[in-house]
Amino acid sequence: MQKLKKKTAELIYEQIKVSFGDGIITADEINEMLEYPPDRSMGDIALPCFKLSKSLRKAPPVIASTLAEGLSCEEYSEVAAVGGYLNFKVSPTAFAKRVVADIEAAGEKYGSPMCGEGKTVVLDYSSPNVAKPFHIGHLGTTVIGHSLKLLHEFAGYKCVGINYLGDWGTQFGKLIVAYKKWGSQKKVEEGGVDELVSLYVKINNAIKAEEEESLAGIPEGERTGKAKSALGDESRLEFSKLEQGNEENLELWRWFVSVSLKEYEKTYKMLGISFDSYKGESFYTDKMPAQVQKLRDMGLLEIDDGASIVNLDKWNMPVCLILKRDGSTLYPTRDIAAAVYRKGEYKFDKAIYVTSAAQSLHFAQWFKVVELMGYDWHNQLVHVPYGTVSINGAKLATRTGNVILLRDLFDEAIRRVSEITREKHPDENECREISEKVGVGAVIFYYLSNNRIRDINFVMEEALSFDGNTGPYAQYTYARTCSILEKAGSLGKMTDAPMSEVEFELSKTLSIFPERVKGALADYEPSVITRYILDLCAAFNRFYHDCKIASLEEGDLRSSRLALTAATNWVLKTALHLICMQSPEKI
Ligand code: ARG
Repeated sequence: MQKLKKKTAELIYEQIKVSFGDGIITADEINEMLEYPPDRSMGDIALPCFKLSKSLRKAPPVIASTLAEGLSCEEYSEVAAVGGYLNFKVSPTAFAKRVVADIEAAGEKYGSPMCGEGKTVVLDYSSPNVAKPFHIGHLGTTVIGHSLKLLHEFAGYKCVGINYLGDWGTQFGKLIVAYKKWGSQKKVEEGGVDELVSLYVKINNAIKAEEEESLAGIPEGERTGKAKSALGDESRLEFSKLEQGNEENLELWRWFVSVSLKEYEKTYKMLGISFDSYKGESFYTDKMPAQVQKLRDMGLLEIDDGASIVNLDKWNMPVCLILKRDGSTLYPTRDIAAAVYRKGEYKFDKAIYVTSAAQSLHFAQWFKVVELMGYDWHNQLVHVPYGTVSINGAKLATRTGNVILLRDLFDEAIRRVSEITREKHPDENECREISEKVGVGAVIFYYLSNNRIRDINFVMEEALSFDGNTGPYAQYTYARTCSILEKAGSLGKMTDAPMSEVEFELSKTLSIFPERVKGALADYEPSVITRYILDLCAAFNRFYHDCKIASLEEGDLRSSRLALTAATNWVLKTALHLICMQSPEKI
């Protein structure tokens, strides 16, 4: 529609030159004046001529009727002066023809704003913490992050997907102690990350119990800093041994990381996600001192109660912690070192970080520190936050083990879908393949239906429903287009056969895909695409219910309708892909 609006503005511009003279107004100014009337009976595009009366020195009705006389173009079925308005009624046939031609010409690239040519984007997403559960709190960073990667790739950017694994930190001290105390190689080999998580949960509970015991007898108000735990001390010791390069601990650590990664990769595979780099937190250990030194040299570090901090009072933020009292580094220190490294390594034009909104302050703080350090690329850093997820209202807590694993969530969705799919697809492999695509897709679609910043409550029944605005419904619509085209044995071709209102609506929906892609990119908001998919499915299904397609007798009308179906099929497939969804041809 935007394209047509622009073309309309140019036509009016030419006509003004002829009827009123040259140099009065530009085509862009006219484009700004054009409106989409709320009621189609008044036209699809309208020019309120009172906006021109000053510069043309004529009454609006005169302007409207003078311009209407001279204007015509095959894209319009009618150009009429109604009072002070010049109304353009779009010819559904010409419009549909042009949209389908645009789609055919651009092929797989239809909708791409092509704004990323020659530019690099680094995306930091998913990034689970090793040996802690990969739970539904990570759903957001994983699917929003990957969808943003796909959107940027679609726009022509070179993309680098980084899984910044949480593979370093005091949790490894705890895990080493727990493993030595209660674990066995056999159990970890068999149980994988689940066994590591249960060791982690066990030691956390044990530490908590010891601490509580040590506080018994001390009045409530005087307890701060007095909790004691021998296991806690042991864990800190094992972690510092690890930091100092103790070979035994290093070996255990490497093993824990690889066991966890193997498990995560199963989930990534199911989602069709792969990363270009798995450089986790541990990689940056030796990259931090140089940045800390730079901060010190620049006079940005202050000592506060023994810790080294950057004061951010001026920007209304709490201090950014760089070094703890004991000299150990912190989360922001690592992020700063990682950003500097990535800038050097990838020469990015933009670095995107996708995390829960709970980390917004952390990002705002260290982005500011990077700016203060004089790195001129500080404004290429983008934090993309998202809201929390709960399941049927249940809260999550990692430490106590009260979590829902991402893997279990997908498995449950797949299991439920397969109960339905099995009837139609008795072949076990086929059933499994389709159920996986539909089950995983349902979870993703449901999650990406809302603005990312909103907190969502996950309800499996709603996600899996075939008749709501869901993933299965969208995939089903896609499969429907496939089956129509297959039955017809032809992709059709646009002809001059007259198109009706529903076909026009479908063409209009197809024509706004490029605008939606632009919007999704500008706001880092995959849900724009999810909602577009629903609009497109609704428009297509209306068309499908009102119009015969493949069952029509051979001829122009059938050919046009098949061409519209094929165009829908392509755009739907692209759109589904952009939100990490598969598009099975059969369901
Ligand atoms: N591992 C972190 C977590 O699970 C997320 C890391 C986000 N990326 C970053 N560069 N800080 O909370």
